Amino acid sequence: MELVSGNISLRPLRESDAPRLAELANNEKIGRNLRDGFPFPYTIEDASDFIRHFMHHSSFFAIEFKGEHVGNISLSPCENVYRRTAEIGYFLGEPYWNKGIMTAAVNLITDYGFRVLGFARIHTGVYEYNTASQKVLEKCGYTKEGIFRKSVFKEGQLWDEVRYAKINPELEQGSGTKDTQVAGNG
Ligand SMILES: CC(C)(COP(=O)(O)OP(=O)(O)OC[C@H]1O[C@@H](n2cnc3c(N)ncnc32)[C@H](O)[C@@H]1OP(=O)(O)O)[C@@H](O)C(=O)NCCC(=O)NCCS
Repeated sequence: MELVSGNISLRPLRESDAPRLAELANNEKIGRNLRDGFPFPYTIEDASDFIRHFMHHSSFFAIEFKGEHVGNISLSPCENVYRRTAEIGYFLGEPYWNKGIMTAAVNLITDYGFRVLGFARIHTGVYEYNTASQKVLEKCGYTKEGIFRKSVFKEGQLWDEVRYAKINPELEQGSGTKDTQVAGNG
């Protein structure tokens, strides 16, 4: 599955992406905005492990800008009573920041999550200092739902987490509330 909008596309991860993924991800300025499982330094082995784990997953993508791999984006399905919800996650290599790339990528994967995978809700938490990511989500129609105060321990300090979500527009129009299966995860 490939999702395309202008010169930005989302495509499945490939084993051969590992060196480039490590090059993009090996940056403290990226890791400080993500969970601790995203290491620094970020090695080619880290990249290979990640790719092997997720390359066959229907909602983990490499982001390409003008045909070049520039970052990753994913929807992780939640479990149990939250199974109609997915958590969105993303990062972009620093040379590509502030060109509108992630806004396009978030719009693409959100639409795919609702229309193809059938999620009712897509959400995420952003650390209070990550203004760029909050801006991206707001530009893509996500709503700030609340603040989880002092919930994040990062870099030896406690931070607030800002929670954002978007609801499948079909549900907001009052239809499609059946417990339909989420398609093709895995
Ligand atoms: C956050 C991130 C994904 C943004 O991607 P991007 O492609 O640069 O985002 P866009 O260019 O689409 O939009 C960024 C917006 O934030 C704004 N912005 C950037 N830095 C900002 C700052 N320090 N303060 C306020 N606004 C800022 C930009 O001006 C732009 O808004 P505009 O279109 O109104 O001008 C990217 O910086 C990144 O990968 N960061 C590290 C990993 C990360 O934070 N992941 C998300 C975890 S929740």
